[in-house]
Parts: sequence; C-alpha cells; structure tokens
Amino acid sequence: MRHKVTVVGSGNVGATAAHWIASKELADVVLIDIIEGVPQGKGLDLLEAMPIEKRDSHIIGTNDYADTANSDIVVITAGIPRKPGMSRDDLLNTNHKIMKDVVGKVLQYSPNCILIIVSNPLDAMAQAAFKMSGFSRNRVIGMAGVLDSARFRTFIAEELKVSVENVTAFVLGGHGDTMVPLARYSTVAGIPITELIEPARLEQLIQRTRDGGAEIVKYLKTGSAFYAPSAAATEMVEAILKDKKKILPCAAYLEGEYGINGLYVGVPCKLGSKGIEQIIEIKLTAEEKAALDKSAASVKELVGVIGV
Ligand code: LAC
Repeated sequence: MRHKVTVVGSGNVGATAAHWIASKELADVVLIDIIEGVPQGKGLDLLEAMPIEKRDSHIIGTNDYADTANSDIVVITAGIPRKPGMSRDDLLNTNHKIMKDVVGKVLQYSPNCILIIVSNPLDAMAQAAFKMSGFSRNRVIGMAGVLDSARFRTFIAEELKVSVENVTAFVLGGHGDTMVPLARYSTVAGIPITELIEPARLEQLIQRTRDGGAEIVKYLKTGSAFYAPSAAATEMVEAILKDKKKILPCAAYLEGEYGINGLYVGVPCKLGSKGIEQIIEIKLTAEEKAALDKSAASVKELVGVIGV
C-alpha cells in the first residue's frame, strides 16, 4: 500500500523533509505552502530527481489543502525561523497564529492522520496543535529529541573518533536552552560515555548540544538548521509508516509520566503505526529529574502565554 505524507511549509526544513522522505521511498509526498509557486517548483524539481534516485515516490507541490486529503502523516514545519540573537521562544506568537491556521485546514482533509510538529518553539507548538486537533495524544508528536540527540551523537562520535552508528544518546526535556542531555544513558557500542569521556569535556559536549541550534543560526544568519531537523522528522515518519516500534526521544503530552501532567515534554517514546504507542519511563537521578522539571517549567511558561 502506498502511504501519503503531507509536509506543510516549503521552506528549508519542509522541502528537505520532502526530499528525505521521497528519496527513502517512504511515501508519496504533498508539499504545501501558502506561498504560490514555491511548493509547486520544489515539488516538481524533486519529482524529476526520482528517475535518477530510482524511486517511485510521487511528489506534488500545492497551495490547495484538498490535495492533502487522507494523508497518513502530516509534518508541520510552517512558521518563521530564528535569526541570530533570537531564541526559539521569540517565535511564539507568530508561529502560534500560523499553527492554528494550518491545523484547522489539515484536520478538514486528513481527520485520521498523525501529526508531527516541527515548528518552533517546539513543545508549545506541539501542545497548541494537540489542543486544537482534539486528537488523542498518541497522534500528535513533537520532533526535537531525535535532532538534539543526533547533535549529541555527532559530537561524541567526533570526540572519540568512532562511527556515528556506535553512538546512542538521549536528550530529554523541552527543545530549548534547558534541554536535558542524559550522559548516563548515552553509550558507545554499549559502553556508557561517562566511562570514555572525562566529566569536564563531557560537559562541554553537552553544552554544545544545548546550543546546537544557535550554533547553526549564527553561521546561516538568515535562518536556522534544516538538514538534521528534517532528517529527524523523517526518522519519525519512517518508524510510524513501517510500524517499527522504535524508541526515539519525542515531545509527548505527559499525563503523569515523570511526575509531569498536562504538558508536552521530550521523553523516550515507542513509535509505531499508531504514533506514540508507549511512553518509556526511565529512572532519573535527583539531579536529572530536577533538570527535567526545570525544562518542563519553561515549556509551561510558554504554553501559558498562548493559553493552550
Ligand atoms: C534547531 C532549531 C530548528 O534546533 O530548533 O536547529
């Protein structure tokens, strides 16, 4: 059976997500934006790459939500990106307005879809989409932990000069300055990194992970990262479409897990065909729990501002 994935937003993150999804032949892709011409142009260009890539994914670009009807998954990347000096939180009100508009239209045509939210500030936008959609929480998932963990994994692999495939890492909490990279649960070929990297150096890698988005913004100046964010969303799409039961850190609506209630926070989730099929509760030390609570508090502040 062919799957259908809609990507909302044809900017760098959206177009690159469409690229990864099509090039892995995960689904047919609808790229949609309010800007006329850009999704059509990028969609057609990507479609014309398929004979070279030997993939039969079909891609269209459109401004018409009717074309998105009956999508299995809708990845929402719409919104303005950060500029240097801006935090993700500075995007709150503008992107909330965009999110409301987008979710309303998506629901009209794909009432049974799973939503993957990528727009920033991530956790608050996921919560806004969740509340608006009325979907059960397993069907509204925020992308952040896969990206933050990938950055942490990259830095660990570079530090130890080992394959990235050997490195697993977990970053929990909100997708912001208070995110919680969990060194204790991060390993290289099963060996905890705390045994391989001395504490002071590890702390530097953790801080670089927290600042990972800002590091890219500083270079790009007119936008934010897009290759790794879109690859992260694509890993989530793949886990769901292939019903892989893959455990990935995602922003999920917590209802008491980790002692947090009624809030989107990044935690380990099992992704399968139903979306989030399980929230995995790992044991945290008092210090880690305090860091997670602090991160949750900053998400709570944001959702309070937009009242979701
Ligand atoms: C980042 C932005 C996209 O982390 O949140 O790069």
